[in-house]
Amino acid sequence: MKESSYEAKTRYSGDTVTEYENKRKSKKWDAEQLVYKKIISKLDKNTKILDVPIGTGRFLTYYRDSGHKITGVDISEDMLDYAEKNCPENFEIRLVKGDAEKLDFDDKSFDYVISARFLNWLPPEVFLNVLTEFSRVSKRGIIIQVRLIERCSISDFIKHVDISYKTVKKKIIKKLFVKGKTYNDYYLHEYKSTMDFLSKEFRMKQIDAIDTRITFPKFQKETFYTIWWTKK
Ligand SMILES: C[S@@+](CC[C@H](N)C(=O)[O-])C[C@H]1O[C@@H](n2cnc3c(N)ncnc32)[C@H](O)[C@@H]1O
Repeated sequence: MKESSYEAKTRYSGDTVTEYENKRKSKKWDAEQLVYKKIISKLDKNTKILDVPIGTGRFLTYYRDSGHKITGVDISEDMLDYAEKNCPENFEIRLVKGDAEKLDFDDKSFDYVISARFLNWLPPEVFLNVLTEFSRVSKRGIIIQVRLIERCSISDFIKHVDISYKTVKKKIIKKLFVKGKTYNDYYLHEYKSTMDFLSKEFRMKQIDAIDTRITFPKFQKETFYTIWWTKK
């Protein structure tokens, strides 16, 4: 089988890692933290969680506070080093270098798989492979973030038009002045097919929209969701 390649697989090393959290702290980051904190605190104590990709370990204090057992996987050694240093005192975690596309764990090794800011970097066929892997290694469910696209209604359009205008302006400025810094790989997955795919094995427990953008003139809505799915 041909090895997959996408930007996120190789870009997280050196300064990209040391500056990762500072560069990303924003309203959106805080909103995500809040949603994950709430979900993590609702899970039973001692829940076995696989956080993939663990990145800098942004949820580690929440895991500790709720008494969960954590394994973190990432493909980047620099990210794993950061997560290790970021680990709160008196909290033990297992960190493993690995590929989300082929997780080196037995079926149902974990209660939950948790994943943030990852799936939107995956090309469609890799995206479905990774979701299948998440489902294979989890017993009770998955808590994921995904950017989904669907057609939008006129009322949605009117509600979001101001935000969309700001986003478009930002994109143009970026294109003109910071060309080299914009990402090449960035995927929007289709809402219906993603929901249909996951609904075969899971039922949705909670869905939180982190941010929504409207694409004009196509009348499409893209929303970055955090979704908690439990096994059927
Ligand atoms: C945008 S960061 C997200 C990190 C963290 N989950 C967060 O929310 O901040 C993307 C992460 O995916 C990791 N990554 C990329 N491809 C991967 C793969 N195939 N398997 C495991 N980790 C991967 C990168 O090394 C990086 O740490």
